Amino acid sequence: GGDGIMKIFIDSADIDEIKQAYEWGIADGVTTNPSLLKKAVTKHKKKNKNLNLKNYINQILKIAKGSPVSLEVTETSKTGMLKQAKNIHKLFKSHKNVYIKIPINPAFKESDTTHFDGITVIKQLTKLKIKTNCTLIFTPEQALLAAKAGASFVSPFAGRIDDFIRVSNKLKVDKTAHYPVWGMQKKDKTLHDNGIVSGIDLVEQCVTILKHYNFKTQVLAASLRNTRQVRESAMVGSDIATLPFTVIKEMLKHQKTYEGMKNFTKDIVPEYVKLTK
Ligand code: E4P
Repeated sequence: GGDGIMKIFIDSADIDEIKQAYEWGIADGVTTNPSLLKKAVTKHKKKNKNLNLKNYINQILKIAKGSPVSLEVTETSKTGMLKQAKNIHKLFKSHKNVYIKIPINPAFKESDTTHFDGITVIKQLTKLKIKTNCTLIFTPEQALLAAKAGASFVSPFAGRIDDFIRVSNKLKVDKTAHYPVWGMQKKDKTLHDNGIVSGIDLVEQCVTILKHYNFKTQVLAASLRNTRQVRESAMVGSDIATLPFTVIKEMLKHQKTYEGMKNFTKDIVPEYVKLTK
């Protein structure tokens, strides 16, 4: 488990967003994945002629100032992932804050035989003292095996579990809309995926199991798409929540806060300003 209160990571590979979140003083780390990197690189290429990816990643690591930055492998075989993880580690070693994201199960389908390669690679990297973030976690038992293999972080994908439960039950999917932590009912039955009633329920079950056995592994609630999921991640005791930039911004907003600011401003006593400004 973690140390202290829930850390907030920014779920982005966009330098402008990362810089802003660190300037606000609310970011404790960064998570990227191949899709987030693609989005950021596409944006970067529109503004700049050339992309020096090594420089680009070095900039992110510099902004993060020693706080954890997750970079994902794109290889899917045991030897491929291991080699790539070692290369990533070596390339950015000086920053001392790179966590290699390894999928819990790199197979594309049931008939693949590579299911256990993620765990094997995490185990080998742990032996080499290379830190890992085990990604694409959709069950508590995947989290348990990743923690046993020595992963520093396990990343349960809350939003995608909510998507999956809705799609499996032919419900309308609105990716950013709140999905109740206690699940949804249909014909008097609570919808679930093998006993998981929601994304946040998945996070909670991972937290419970890892706390129970005092694992050092931290639960990193991922695929969070709205502020209520952030609140619920904190309520179930997640060690870390990784948030898209938009969700970070949403966290401080309320219409009554704006209204209150307007009203207080109307009531300002000039002598008070003179005395204190
Ligand atoms: C973590 O970095 C995950 O890859 C990410 O949170 C996934 O989020 P998504 O399901 O909204 O794509």
